[in-house]
Amino acid sequence: MPTENKNNLRKLIRQKRKQLDFHQQDLHAWSIARLITRQAAFRNAKRIACYLAEDGEIDPIYIIEKAWQYKKEIFLPVLPPTGKSLFFARYTAQTKLKPNQFGILEPDIHPNHWLRARELSLILLPLVAFDEKGNRLGMGGGYYDRSLAFIKHRKQWHNPKLIGLAHELQKVDSLSRESWDIPLNMITTEEKIYTNN
Ligand SMILES: Nc1ncnc2c1ncn2[C@@H]1O[C@H](COP(=O)(O)OP(=O)(O)O)[C@@H](O)[C@H]1O
Ligand SMILES: [Mg+2]
Repeated sequence: MPTENKNNLRKLIRQKRKQLDFHQQDLHAWSIARLITRQAAFRNAKRIACYLAEDGEIDPIYIIEKAWQYKKEIFLPVLPPTGKSLFFARYTAQTKLKPNQFGILEPDIHPNHWLRARELSLILLPLVAFDEKGNRLGMGGGYYDRSLAFIKHRKQWHNPKLIGLAHELQKVDSLSRESWDIPLNMITTEEKIYTNN
């Protein structure tokens, strides 16, 4: 799929996603939390990366609360001012947040304490579109692909497990996988879990 088509698809799905009202958003967030928190990938995970929802993305807040209850550690992506790769900073109910260069809120934590993706058990990713084969279309920055590139060079891939969170309306028939794209193990929507390996 040419980049131009992918950009059109991004625009189209982001528009549809933004039209969901608060009640539908909350219902989807709740259904997805219920599905995910029953999975072995969640139950066994000690360190879980989430994100703060924007633009009509699935809100992982119910998953975060459940994880805190179970004494699991939650992390949020942080972007170094010069880098193009994500690090992950611990997020607790007490963590102060501050906006990064793109205005996205991040934990206000010293870089000495940031982790790499490879140190996490599970990463919950936002996405714009997905297909049943685990292909993910993001916002177009390639940040997760770059941060997870090490997975391509591994013979065996245990951790981190990658689970995309999406509304069912974000599903498309098929997405072409580019050489740098990292596929997801699972995608969870308000209706079901799509599993790939
Ligand atoms: N591992 C990587 N190394 C270098 N550049 C990368 C890597 N992964 C992604 N990119 C770059 O990021 C850009 C956006 O990636 P894309 O997959 O289209 O975005 P997204 O995954 O956010 O939908 C691509 O043009 C690609 O060149
Ligand atoms: Mg990609």
